[in-house]
Amino acid sequence: MSATMTCVAIECATREDDPRTVDREILFEKSNGTLGVQNGIDSQISDSAATLVKRNLSIRRKENAENNVKAESQPAAEAQTHTYSEQSAAQVNGINGVTIKRQSALFLQAVRQKYVLVTDHIVPAVQHDGEILVKVDAVGLNPIDWKAPAFNFGIPSLPWIFGRDLAGVVVQTAPNSRIKKGDLVAVPSTDYRDIRKAAFQEYAIATHYNAVRIPPTTSIHSGVSLGVAFVASALALGICFGLDFDLSKDAPGPNLPQIISQIDQEQIPADVREECFSSADESRRIKRGDWIAIWGASTTTGYVTIQLAKLCGLRVVAVADVARHGAKLHEAGADILVDRLDTNRAVEIIRGVTQGRLRYAIDIVGRDTAAILQQALYIDDSSETSTHLLGLTGLPKERDPRIRYHTVPIKMFHSSPAVGEGLVTWLERLLETQKLVPPEVVVRRDGGLADINDALEVLRSGAVSGKRLVVDLRKNTEIAAN
Ligand SMILES: NC(=O)c1ccc[n+]([C@@H]2O[C@H](COP(=O)([O-])OP(=O)(O)OC[C@H]3O[C@@H](n4cnc5c(N)ncnc54)[C@H](OP(=O)(O)O)[C@@H]3O)[C@@H](O)[C@H]2O)c1
Repeated sequence: MSATMTCVAIECATREDDPRTVDREILFEKSNGTLGVQNGIDSQISDSAATLVKRNLSIRRKENAENNVKAESQPAAEAQTHTYSEQSAAQVNGINGVTIKRQSALFLQAVRQKYVLVTDHIVPAVQHDGEILVKVDAVGLNPIDWKAPAFNFGIPSLPWIFGRDLAGVVVQTAPNSRIKKGDLVAVPSTDYRDIRKAAFQEYAIATHYNAVRIPPTTSIHSGVSLGVAFVASALALGICFGLDFDLSKDAPGPNLPQIISQIDQEQIPADVREECFSSADESRRIKRGDWIAIWGASTTTGYVTIQLAKLCGLRVVAVADVARHGAKLHEAGADILVDRLDTNRAVEIIRGVTQGRLRYAIDIVGRDTAAILQQALYIDDSSETSTHLLGLTGLPKERDPRIRYHTVPIKMFHSSPAVGEGLVTWLERLLETQKLVPPEVVVRRDGGLADINDALEVLRSGAVSGKRLVVDLRKNTEIAAN
């Protein structure tokens, strides 16, 4: 931005360590009095603008800015700074015929506080042809939605918008996109550092390769219930354990190790590169007939993992509260159910059933249960890497050098179009053919975004055990129209 432009407001917070660096969109005033929008990550702004931003971080305090928009007088050459297109649901009067439409969004303003509803947040803009704009009609709640604010992690900046699973109607897309305007899609929003993609707002951006078209046979609530769980499960099995989903006779899916091997290594984020190639060696890959143990099998992620594992011919030991969840897990295909309440006995049972040969295990609960599960694994003194433990929520403090530990490289879903598209198109087929059964849902209506705080309290209390909480954001008139 040139020094002659004054930043009048920003779309999201400046970095705490450097108030001159902002993460997303800046609304600025040009020397001729018109307004422009600059999109971009890490845009540098002038010192004077930074001072102004420091004084007033929020665009909603800048009501006057909108009134001052002088679209007609703006020369065409200056139009480069914004990316709203004519199709956009975000159309308003203003910069070159485009105004800035406002929407409601739920903001976290400080850690350990409730989300705050604002009603005049800018509708996010698409930045290239690979992106779509979705009107968010339903959100699925994940534990991270309350854990991140409560324990102060996964917060790129403040204020920030959260929400990882959304579904709704596509209102803007590029002409040749796989996703069409009017499609009903579910989006697992793993790219949480891009505030435009967060679920807790009326309109959200997604890339076409992260959007799952929900088939007519699946309700929007079921569609929004399993996105992140599916992605985590598929990446854990496919990338970390090297499971070839093409092995599934009924619903073949992507061979992720093969897809990864075709990606330029430099394109893979450095912090997950090693994990992505952990199953490059075929001898390490899990195959049909192998045992896998899942601790926390009644979680949504566990429920999906059992089903994907069974589709590919694995043998599954499911650890959960069997009295509560046994019938459902059995139905999902678990070969052996082990009750989680007596942990020592659970380890003995897993070792007995697998005859001490268990080489693959996933914990979906936390560090402590990962440490318990570790005791059930086969340890081969002659090999360092024949046994694998993946922790979705944490890994044991005490590590055994003969076990290979894994964390799920979740960012591959949004950072690699080939991985993302491979997974969403497979999920579309799985839903269409009903080879994957979504979790049961508990739907909350009529409260809108404002209801999410209360819904997260319910999730946190554990009252909705084994089901996904979904908040339907549609007004009654919209539901009737569909
Ligand atoms: N790293 C990642 O990228 C990633 C991605 C997805 C999920 N996750 C994490 O994975 C975990 C599960 O997520 P989710 O959305 O699938 O969860 P969820 O569906 O909300 O899980 C709820 C279930 O957890 C079970 N549970 C609670 N404590 C347990 C314990 N000690 N042992 C066994 N089961 C227990 C409950 O069973 P009961 O009825 O028996 O209490 C309940 O059925 C979360 O911690 C989440 O943050 C991580």
